[in-house]
Amino acid sequence: MSDPTRPIREYLAAWGPRVEAALDLHLPPADRDPQRCHQAMRWSVLGGGKRLRPALVLLGARAAGGDEASVLGVACAVEFLHTYSLIHDDLPAMDDDDYRRGRLSCHAKFDEATAILAGDALNTHAFGLLATTSPDPSRVASLVAELAAASGTHGMVGGQCADLEGEGGAPDELMVRSIHERKTGALITASLRMGAIAVGADNRLLADLGEFARRLGLAFQIVDDVLDEEGAAVDLGKTPGKDRAQGKVTYPAAIGVAASRARADELVRDAAPFAAGTPATPQLISLAAYVLARHS
Ligand code: IPE
Ligand code: IPE
Ligand code: MG
Ligand code: MG
Ligand code: MG
Repeated sequence: MSDPTRPIREYLAAWGPRVEAALDLHLPPADRDPQRCHQAMRWSVLGGGKRLRPALVLLGARAAGGDEASVLGVACAVEFLHTYSLIHDDLPAMDDDDYRRGRLSCHAKFDEATAILAGDALNTHAFGLLATTSPDPSRVASLVAELAAASGTHGMVGGQCADLEGEGGAPDELMVRSIHERKTGALITASLRMGAIAVGADNRLLADLGEFARRLGLAFQIVDDVLDEEGAAVDLGKTPGKDRAQGKVTYPAAIGVAASRARADELVRDAAPFAAGTPATPQLISLAAYVLARHS
């Protein structure tokens, strides 16, 4: 049987260099003041990463019959926001991890204050960039609203708050699901929808893409939890075994590794019908398979 992850791997290989070039272009130069902050932003953004959220933005545009090249700025904005969340997630006051994307995390390479400010700057930079991505003010407003909702206290930040408050507590599946949908699922869902919004998709398609990505996003964080439990640092580029050590509320802690894998499989199966019948369907289905099969 052919490898189900092949279409998305080919897609990532084709678009990867253009995404990397766009990220570089949209970041402030390292030799412009404040140099240390700009260097830290560039260290964290340009230091690897699977770029799944940018790929979802491009696929959202493709699903809506739009031009992928026209949404590269939107893809960069989402990756900047995501990278800010990683920088802050790694801080000593949060998950305290010195490794990220196969090298030193931002505070370990620079210092804590610089990492906090680099994260702040990437957050702001994401919205500033978004504001320039369309000549149509109502479309810009929709994109800004979508990213703000996904990353604020009802989304990523809210999930991170609950993740930290949950440390050391008794994990149950309902609670962990609510954390994961917010800290990770919301931004993944926004990524796919924003690509479609940027090219003028109708509400019906946006709703379907949202349903697909909501399931994909939860599956993605379940697999992240499983990899923290079972994965190797050399593949992950971050420190495994930390969730258990820190008493995190995770899927494996709540229901075990085997049941967690089964949940992720089930979510991906249930997601598929919502991505049917679009020009991006083969890549979206393949991306879902990739999320289950990944080791990094
Ligand atoms: C890591 O996300 C943080 C989570 C939400 C689990 P990714 O696994 O997408 O990290 P990068 O961008 O590839 O480094
Ligand atoms: C973090 O989840 C999700 C974010 C919002 C960054 P994790 O804490 O599990 O992510 P990793 O494992 O450090 O990448
Ligand atoms: Mg965390
Ligand atoms: Mg973490
Ligand atoms: Mg994790």
